[in-house]
Amino acid sequence: MERFVAETDAYRTRSVHDLITLKGKTAVITGGARGLGLAIARGCAELGANIAVLDLLEQTAEVAELERGTGVKVQYYRVDVSDPEALDATFTKLLSDFGSIDCLVTAAGVGTGGPFLEHDKRTIDRVISINLTGTILCTQLAVKQMLQQGNGGSIVTISSIGGHAGIPQQKNAVYCATKGAILGFTKSLAVEMAEHGIRVNSISPGFFLTNVTPGYPQKNVALLESYVQKIPVKRFADRSELKSIVAFLLTEASSYITGEDIAVDGGVLAG
Ligand SMILES: NC(=O)c1ccc[n+]([C@@H]2O[C@H](COP(=O)([O-])OP(=O)(O)OC[C@H]3O[C@@H](n4cnc5c(N)ncnc54)[C@H](O)[C@@H]3O)[C@@H](O)[C@H]2O)c1
Repeated sequence: MERFVAETDAYRTRSVHDLITLKGKTAVITGGARGLGLAIARGCAELGANIAVLDLLEQTAEVAELERGTGVKVQYYRVDVSDPEALDATFTKLLSDFGSIDCLVTAAGVGTGGPFLEHDKRTIDRVISINLTGTILCTQLAVKQMLQQGNGGSIVTISSIGGHAGIPQQKNAVYCATKGAILGFTKSLAVEMAEHGIRVNSISPGFFLTNVTPGYPQKNVALLESYVQKIPVKRFADRSELKSIVAFLLTEASSYITGEDIAVDGGVLAG
């Protein structure tokens, strides 16, 4: 019967401040060299997590600055998330460097867009292998380790508003197919892993100004302005508005949330 007592003292003794921490945890962030992944890595470091960044790029100055700015351990691994052998070797190395994995965020992704009929098989395979297969492979390696540790864990995958609906003013059906698949993957894995205390959630970013935003790298002001008109809050998001949500999903503050998707989109999907 003890299991069914509604009123425990925990709501008084465990403050919100106690719950929102990642102190001593190891967080693996793919795609953490720049953009959303970099902001997410910073958010985790601010909450005390040690950070393993996995990315295809050479280490960026911003990642190097992360360690100096937050005092946590930060290690950078250059790897292609769609390459299973290279990923295996990277996870082996990072486990010998950190000893554990408690959190994973799969932010590595590419936003290849363009008219649907212009996507050849090579392009289609590339988008799927990075955005979807890469997410699945990294999650498998992290889950394997979390199960061995036996302490649960928390995983956040990155979908998109395009995983739910067509993105206003954009042509990127193949990209959106990977983002819809990530939603299904996340929910199904959340159910499978629930009994092990491993939570799996996703976020669906709306319009952030990064390399994957069509028009931003090309400085196409007219196109960017046209997006703003479609966003209910009438502005682009700031990455600080994303890192806090991911950090929340990784901490004990969200311990009863799994299989959920949170749209960080200024109301686009609500419209
Ligand atoms: N920017 C947005 O508005 C937006 C909206 C919805 C979803 N997203 C998603 O957020 C995630 C992060 O994108 P971003 O906006 O920060 O773009 P970004 O291009 O700035 O960052 C993506 C990162 O992933 C890395 N990467 C790409 N391919 C890789 C590979 N094969 N192996 C390892 N690393 C690889 C890149 O080097 C880069 O550092 C992506 O999954 C993207 O689809 C972004």
